[in-house]
Amino acid sequence: MAVIKSNYAVEEGIYQMEVAWTGDVRPGQFFMLRAWDRDPLLSRPISVHDYDAESGTLSFLYQVKGKGTKLMSELGPMDAIQLDGPHGNGFPDVKSNLVVVGGGMGIAPLLYAVRDFKAKHKRKKVRVYLGYSFESYGVEPFNDVADDVIVNIGGIITEKVEVKRGETVFGCGPNVMMRALADAVPPKHPVYLSLEKRMACGMGVCLGCSVKTVDGNKQVCADGPVFERDELIWEGGL
Ligand SMILES: Cc1cc2nc3c(=O)[nH]c(=O)nc-3n(C[C@H](O)[C@H](O)[C@H](O)COP(=O)(O)OP(=O)(O)OC[C@H]3O[C@@H](n4cnc5c(N)ncnc54)[C@H](O)[C@@H]3O)c2cc1C
Ligand code: FES
Repeated sequence: MAVIKSNYAVEEGIYQMEVAWTGDVRPGQFFMLRAWDRDPLLSRPISVHDYDAESGTLSFLYQVKGKGTKLMSELGPMDAIQLDGPHGNGFPDVKSNLVVVGGGMGIAPLLYAVRDFKAKHKRKKVRVYLGYSFESYGVEPFNDVADDVIVNIGGIITEKVEVKRGETVFGCGPNVMMRALADAVPPKHPVYLSLEKRMACGMGVCLGCSVKTVDGNKQVCADGPVFERDELIWEGGL
């Protein structure tokens, strides 16, 4: 059990929760969260949005979709929440300059990815593209850590993305956006995408979160959620 430090709306239906937690966590990893006994049955996967090891604060950015996230949104400071994780393999440690592309809630795992990259590679540059359908949210912290942040509302963010010589791309968002990103970035640039599938166990046991790859079926929870573009088979979606 972990104790909630704060939990507040950053936009209608979008919440940020800070939890007291210390440990090792890599960008792109996720936790299985639950703050209820039996209903809903399963814990819910939520990515690490940010982590401050000094103050022992782990942050999640989440959208209220159904029962689980609604229950989470009703919690307040000092309430307890069960955190199981971190799970999965996160974004790799890259040594080139970085381009980061987030669509809607897909921005969630990308802030810690940018923060961690800049902490490890102070002289390297990160350019961030954030695309939203209606309202932007969560932009300010990216302004604090990235070299350049491009925000687009109501458009197609992948049409704005420029990738320059030697840059690596990280992306997260709706499948259609990630597919467009995978198609748009020239093959010489590595592209790492964080995928979402509905999850039950979160640790590779139930086989409920399979995705087709060139090496056969893999589990998004245990083998991902981050995959290299060339591993993925997109036929008929993911
Ligand atoms: C690895 C991983 C990391 C994630 N990180 C975040 C995050 O940082 N922030 C965030 O807001 N959400 C994240 N999600 C999605 C989040 O887990 C779901 O929105 C949540 O489980 C919905 O639970 P619920 O009980 O509120 O809704 P439910 O009642 O379970 O579902 C409500 C609606 O949400 C859809 N839904 C449920 N689970 C998923 C899913 N995994 N992917 C897409 N749609 C889903 C359902 O199809 C349904 O339409 C992540 C998912 C994965 C797999
Ligand atoms: S959620 Fe069970 S194998 Fe991935």
